[in-house]
Amino acid sequence: MIGDTRTIKILDTTLRDGEQAPGCSMNLPEKIEVARRLERLGVDIIEAGFPASSPGDLDAVKAIAGVIKNSAVACLCRCLEKDIDAGREALAKAASPRIHVFLATSPVHMEYKLKMTEAQVLEQATAAVRYAKKFCNDIEFSAEDAFRSDPDFVCKVFAAAIDAGALTVNFPDTVGYAMPAEFGERIHYVKDHTHGMEKACLSVHCHNDLGLAVANSLAAVSAGAAQVECTINGIGERAGNASLEEFVMGLRLRRELYSADTHIDSTQIYSVSRLVSQVTGIKLPPNKAIVGDNAFAHEAGIHQHGVLANRETYEIMTPESIGIPKNTIVLGKHSGRHAFEERLKELGLPVDAETFEKIFAGFKELADKKKAVSDRDIEALVRDIVVSIPETWKLDHWAVNTGSALGASGVIRLQHKDGKYEKIVSMGDGPVDSIFKAINQIIGKEPELELYEIGAITGGSSSQGETMVKIAMNGQRWNGHGVSTDIIESSIKAYLSAINAMEYYLSENGK
Ligand code: KIV
Ligand code: ZN
Repeated sequence: MIGDTRTIKILDTTLRDGEQAPGCSMNLPEKIEVARRLERLGVDIIEAGFPASSPGDLDAVKAIAGVIKNSAVACLCRCLEKDIDAGREALAKAASPRIHVFLATSPVHMEYKLKMTEAQVLEQATAAVRYAKKFCNDIEFSAEDAFRSDPDFVCKVFAAAIDAGALTVNFPDTVGYAMPAEFGERIHYVKDHTHGMEKACLSVHCHNDLGLAVANSLAAVSAGAAQVECTINGIGERAGNASLEEFVMGLRLRRELYSADTHIDSTQIYSVSRLVSQVTGIKLPPNKAIVGDNAFAHEAGIHQHGVLANRETYEIMTPESIGIPKNTIVLGKHSGRHAFEERLKELGLPVDAETFEKIFAGFKELADKKKAVSDRDIEALVRDIVVSIPETWKLDHWAVNTGSALGASGVIRLQHKDGKYEKIVSMGDGPVDSIFKAINQIIGKEPELELYEIGAITGGSSSQGETMVKIAMNGQRWNGHGVSTDIIESSIKAYLSAINAMEYYLSENGK
């Protein structure tokens, strides 16, 4: 509490609820980089994964727990000893570990999913909190589908969880069914009727099935909630979770109304939002609140006129407040190290000395091909270097032959990590298809291409082409991105980065 302003804790679950949503998977280096950016953003708790769900999740939570120092690191566990054991192992190196256990309390979940009675749920939840408490002081208990549960039963389970040692009790609207006013009333009720509530932090976790996750989270704050769970860009199961950027900026702009704020450094929002969009391959609609491309664009003449006279006519916040840089200096091939380093800082992308050298070399190479290097180009350079995974296959060279009368043919030479080169020529339905087919022949695998999207990073014909691909094999998916001044090369880079993510996963998992 600062003066009369309460501080609301932010638990970010981009790496757990967000990552488990279809098409949002991230590889290990991507998860670690997202976690680092969330720490820089100032989130109080990073929910890093669900260790018992897969060996990959266990490893990711372990790795994140090893590098994050200023945020607590949480992991999700069912109310089962084997899950809690996996959580404890995953969090062994965390500076501030949190075990988050959950069990459903709604009639429909208890009857059809759990096949348990209320008494059994109460018993299992209490036993799980007690067991987890032996290894970790910071325990959160969630009553899954709490909003569709009997409020008095939720209060009873929360009271038992608090008595067993839970420091946070979380009230999810798991299916996004609540309306803001009734959600606020329910939170009031639970706060007033849970025995021992004064000893615990009351949290909410809202899904967005009716587009109300942020509104419900704000209503919960008015009703006394002290922690809000959310994700970057609102990614998450089905229609997603409450979006961190919308909740945080709503609260900050209207803090006099809520007498509450968060610790979030809002100037980091834009860069982390873009990173999550890029690594998940989930593009944002241009009109997405706060972080969409049009969020600060003024098209109508009357609006432009007003904004030029005084920004406040049509803007309730500045682009700079969420970290969109002013972009005054254009970087090019004559720009020096100092200017480049400054621009990285302005973009919220400070990196260590070794990484800086690699990025700077990439910048010089790009500046030779392109007169003006934009912020988007720089972000892409940083992303490709910071979240790179070991390359099984490296691009050596390629060429395509295409035209309207004949089909396309492509030739590509790749270098395998053991040093040998492989070259294949292939025909295809277009230049990209011919090259992708040649790559498949070299690697001896035929993943399904689920998504292929290409766009220009900035406007103008000298813009770099940015490609995103998603490939799938045996039920697993991998994303890849590539950037180049040549659109075929950007496609090849994207496809190869997905192939390398797949090869890395297969070798790590002994497949
Ligand atoms: O939506 C939900 O109920 C959850 C819980 C596990 C917190 O994600
Ligand atoms: Zn959820």
